[in-house]
Amino acid sequence: MQRQGIIQRVKILKILNKHKFISGQDIASICHISRIAVWKHINYLIENGVKIKVHANKGYEFLDFGYRLLPEIIKLHRDENSFIKDIIYFDDIDSTNEYAKRILKEGTLVIAEQQKKGKGRRGSKWYSEKYKDILFSLILSPKIPYSYLSLFNIIGTLAVAYALNKLFKLNAQTKWPNDVVINNKKCGGVLIEFVAELDLIDKLILGIGVNTNSKPKFKNSTSLSIVLRTKVDRMNLLVQILKELEIFYNLILRKRNSQIQKIWKEYAQDYEKRIKIIDEAKEIEGVSCGIDNFGNLILKRGDNYQIFYPTSLVIVK
Ligand code: BTN
Repeated sequence: MQRQGIIQRVKILKILNKHKFISGQDIASICHISRIAVWKHINYLIENGVKIKVHANKGYEFLDFGYRLLPEIIKLHRDENSFIKDIIYFDDIDSTNEYAKRILKEGTLVIAEQQKKGKGRRGSKWYSEKYKDILFSLILSPKIPYSYLSLFNIIGTLAVAYALNKLFKLNAQTKWPNDVVINNKKCGGVLIEFVAELDLIDKLILGIGVNTNSKPKFKNSTSLSIVLRTKVDRMNLLVQILKELEIFYNLILRKRNSQIQKIWKEYAQDYEKRIKIIDEAKEIEGVSCGIDNFGNLILKRGDNYQIFYPTSLVIVK
């Protein structure tokens, strides 16, 4: 029922965007629904921030898509045949990753305007401001060996950095395992949770948060609007991140690990630098020599090369 409503509203939005001004009767005939149904859908869109002016007995005037990351608008901008089959939207939720874990339905994008218990890596909290940031979790079912897990952190951070650099000509970089940074300050993060069956990844939740128009509290964090000194169009950015994510996901499915490894080197802020990482609550220092074929960090410590696995991956069951 809810899904059918979304499909109708996507159609109505397409018509409104094309015609700018159109009567309820015309929309009803194009969509093969009643005028009352048109009115209900338009009312829903207006209540959810889409700017549509109602001209009594004349028709509807489309002004603006508004400020919310509504599934109807995301679908309008995305290819029907994408890896996203369904979108679930919340004004408020505990955490999009937590919700995704409750449903575990492949191809579902869970998106929220605010999280009450947003989760960061290693049990930390993820802060966001309502209607200002980007917060989503995507449920995938890659059915590939468990050894590929760390690569999902890598593609999550790369997708965000790629989208930022493409749209805003920034120099966003990735920081192993799951940070996106601009000028050394964190503006986004990735949290992976998964269900494994024997040696295969059965379900994987790829959670992404991007500080977009908010003012982060921590001094080592930033947001895009702070860097760019202007308000950012969240919908535009979200759609671009999803596009990049799909491209990178297909690289994983086609086992193009070495291509991802190569791209990561270009984007990694610490490549060939002396770094400190936290491994099982211990601080470890060494020179970053890149990632192995599966996204794990290679550190040179003295004369030895050691491989480190992200400690941020969470097993669901
Ligand atoms: C990190 O610590 O860098 C990871 C942050 C991941 C935050 C995102 S926001 C959407 C999704 N839901 C959550 O509760 N966390 C992830």
